[in-house]
Amino acid sequence: MSRARSPIGLRPFLPQDGAALAAIFVASVEEIAGEDYGAEQIAVWTARADDAQAFAARLAGQLTLVATLEGEPVGFVSLAGPERIDMLYVHPLASRQGAGTALVDALEKLAQARGARHLVVDSSDTAEPFFARRGYSAQQRNTIEIDGVWLGNTTMRKALPANDSAPPPRRMQ
Ligand SMILES: CC(C)(COP(=O)(O)OP(=O)(O)OC[C@H]1O[C@@H](n2cnc3c(N)ncnc32)[C@H](O)[C@@H]1OP(=O)(O)O)[C@@H](O)C(=O)NCCC(=O)NCCS
Repeated sequence: MSRARSPIGLRPFLPQDGAALAAIFVASVEEIAGEDYGAEQIAVWTARADDAQAFAARLAGQLTLVATLEGEPVGFVSLAGPERIDMLYVHPLASRQGAGTALVDALEKLAQARGARHLVVDSSDTAEPFFARRGYSAQQRNTIEIDGVWLGNTTMRKALPANDSAPPPRRMQ
């Protein structure tokens, strides 16, 4: 299928992306993470996109990158603060075609250029093999509660190479 061979594009989040990214988020959680989590867990997880304005505002307030295939958004990643990956979701129809890799590659480089020495992520069980393959190591197991439903995830961490082009730290006078 030619779609599978299309190159993945990357661009920054645009204000008009909110609805498309919310749809990707819901499809990704239901169809990909649905393999590892129960129906109640999936329902409270996807409910995070029910308030479309709040969902878009969360992405707009973070460093958010969008992956595209043939010009259409198929995934996104967001960085909260200097070193925490907040959201990473790829549409099931674009799964295992390198979109997640392209997104996190770019995010790691941007974070590193901004001076981050490591990245952390509270990874879903579904994404754990993806992050492990990228060199993230498990730090701790978490159980989080959303609207009375408990979900497990794992805090994972990866050290980033030192940024040689960053300005040297200022000397004390
Ligand atoms: C995790 C996720 C973002 C990966 O996106 P993707 O575009 O499919 O990832 P890539 O194609 O770049 O995969 C790169 C490698 O990661 C590993 N990988 C990715 N998904 C995997 C899975 N479900 N199981 C095992 N390994 C996986 C594989 O080694 C893969 O290489 P391969 O396809 O050559 O075997 C995607 O599966 C997703 O959206 N999952 C559901 C949402 C979720 O849990 N998000 C994380 C919240 S923290």
